[in-house]
Amino acid sequence: MNIKSKDKTKVLIVFYSMYGNTAKLAKAVAEGARQVENVKVSLRQVEELVPKEIIEANERMKQVKKGLTDIPIATNEDLVEADGIVFGTPTRYGNMCAQMKQFIDKTGGLWAEGKLINKVAGVFTSTSTLHGGQETTIITSMIPLLHHGMIIVGVPYSEQRLFSMETGGGSPYGASSVSGPNADKSPTVNDLEIAKTLGRRVAEIAKKIAEKQGQKE
Ligand SMILES: Cc1cc2nc3c(=O)[nH]c(=O)nc-3n(C[C@H](O)[C@H](O)[C@H](O)COP(=O)(O)O)c2cc1C
Repeated sequence: MNIKSKDKTKVLIVFYSMYGNTAKLAKAVAEGARQVENVKVSLRQVEELVPKEIIEANERMKQVKKGLTDIPIATNEDLVEADGIVFGTPTRYGNMCAQMKQFIDKTGGLWAEGKLINKVAGVFTSTSTLHGGQETTIITSMIPLLHHGMIIVGVPYSEQRLFSMETGGGSPYGASSVSGPNADKSPTVNDLEIAKTLGRRVAEIAKKIAEKQGQKE
């Protein structure tokens, strides 16, 4: 489905989630973006690489996948249509997951044509452990986005929850959560609020840029 809708700023949230935590953050990012007037928000997931039989044999993964079936698979066209894009990935050894990497690696044609230049981008992640690489994942995920010429935004400290001393996620680099060794600890209220702040911020900045471009046309 083409997400273009005239007059509205378009924000796309594209994510991968195996155990559901990144998906919960994605929904909070979408909620935050929706709080900005005249913004159309679309949620997309990237293609799965885990073989079907492995998912079928794991009740948890199976249930998570089932719960996400209504979210369409992201395409390059979705990226081109959007004014702002927020990328969500679980942490894999301090980096983005292979599913998201594959999705981004398929955007070479867009890169060659400069199709993502000046789109606003943000990143969020989920880890098992507190110091397991949230910041490295978010920052390394930003590198291909910079190659694309995207305008990267994070979460400024005007978001007071970044000062919280409670165990959880959230940093100036983006939104995050800590899911614990079994990936069964859902994002906290603070994590979800910070995710909303990220979504709102990407939407607000994307809207300003889209409006400016509109005035020039
Ligand atoms: C192959 C693999 C590598 C992982 N690497 C890390 C890591 O470097 N640091 C960490 O804290 N958690 C790591 N995790 C745990 C996931 O990042 C964590 O469970 C995350 O919350 C899952 O998100 P999801 O619920 O959206 O799938 C790893 C998990 C897998 C399967």
